[in-house]
Amino acid sequence: MLQRQPTRPTFGWDNLSGLRPAGLPAVDDLPHQRLLTSGRAALFAAMKALGVQAGDGVLAPSYHCPTLVAPLRAAGARVQFYPLGPDGLPRLEAIRPAPGTKALVVAQLFGLPRSLAAQRAWCDAHGIALVEDCAHSFFGQAGERPVGQWGDLATASLSKFFPVAEGGLLASARPLPAQALRPAGARAQLKAWVDLLERGSQQGRLAGLNTPLRALFRLKNGPPRAPSAAAPQDMTEADMLADCDLGRSEQAPPALTGRLLGLPRGRIVARRRAHYQALFDGTQGLAGARALLGTLPAQAAPYVMPLWVDQPEPVYAALRAAGCAVFRWDRVWPGVPEFPDDHGARWRRHVLQLLCHQDLDDAMLSRTCDVLTDALKT
Ligand SMILES: Cc1ncc(COP(=O)(O)O)c(C=O)c1O
Repeated sequence: MLQRQPTRPTFGWDNLSGLRPAGLPAVDDLPHQRLLTSGRAALFAAMKALGVQAGDGVLAPSYHCPTLVAPLRAAGARVQFYPLGPDGLPRLEAIRPAPGTKALVVAQLFGLPRSLAAQRAWCDAHGIALVEDCAHSFFGQAGERPVGQWGDLATASLSKFFPVAEGGLLASARPLPAQALRPAGARAQLKAWVDLLERGSQQGRLAGLNTPLRALFRLKNGPPRAPSAAAPQDMTEADMLADCDLGRSEQAPPALTGRLLGLPRGRIVARRRAHYQALFDGTQGLAGARALLGTLPAQAAPYVMPLWVDQPEPVYAALRAAGCAVFRWDRVWPGVPEFPDDHGARWRRHVLQLLCHQDLDDAMLSRTCDVLTDALKT
């Protein structure tokens, strides 16, 4: 069966070595924090912390993955979408917030965080809270401030940066209002360890234990299953909400999540940067494709290398067929309007997000570049 490249970090022994500090600011530098089960749980908690009630307005980007919008809707918000400029930030001049708008959610996309000085000033002028969604940007300097420090609240998705099965973070410079969370039970605690060992052994990251663990998990799970089919494009809002699985939004994460946040961080940042560079170099000069946002900024730990492709369909299909670690945000929440000159709408089709997490290896990155080179030749 096709060996798929991992789309998120996986625990291996090498995670234990290297420099402890990241060498970059991080969202968990903020003094007030709450650990949750996912980035979507953190966005849901942000809505609760802001007192968003049924019918209150929340502004969200036209370019998104459904897990950004679902928690806002689950909290009862009326979501008003806004268009993006060429930098991936809200086109503020195009936003007319409806009365009763409580928050502007801005995603620090791709792990290439940017200054939100203009968004901060706009929110202050309108009396609207700024939620800085750092799901893609756990580390980095966002212009004049560290990432996460523009928002009244910052949210993060830990499974994109650390080898945790589940984890999210809500953080702020100011104390967070209390939120009742169901404790993670014994089953969830055990499952977190089992997931860690299962994924680590499947990907050959636990030298000395891989073979016996794989045999054990095969006994438990039966033969490997083919990956499930991609979700259909034309889902209703109810289908989207169900697909985003918000069931554990008000549950505390397992203790293992907190422990894995303490892993050395130098390797995470260094390898992500090297992987961005490898993907950048490997796609330079390909006709019909270009790195969307150019060279890697000095103070970033990228989530993906966003690649603009002129004729994306055959290229995306080839990457997926080859099992490469790639996403495209082509599933749009029902009701997103068509704005004039919205870069978000173009990116939904043309931007391929090539993952650069730390637990990919050189062979995987070369494979991705080779598949791209072949697909763009034909
Ligand atoms: C920008 C953004 N926000 C929020 C989320 C939700 O994060 P999680 O998958 O941890 O729930 C994602 C997930 O892909 C995301 O890309």
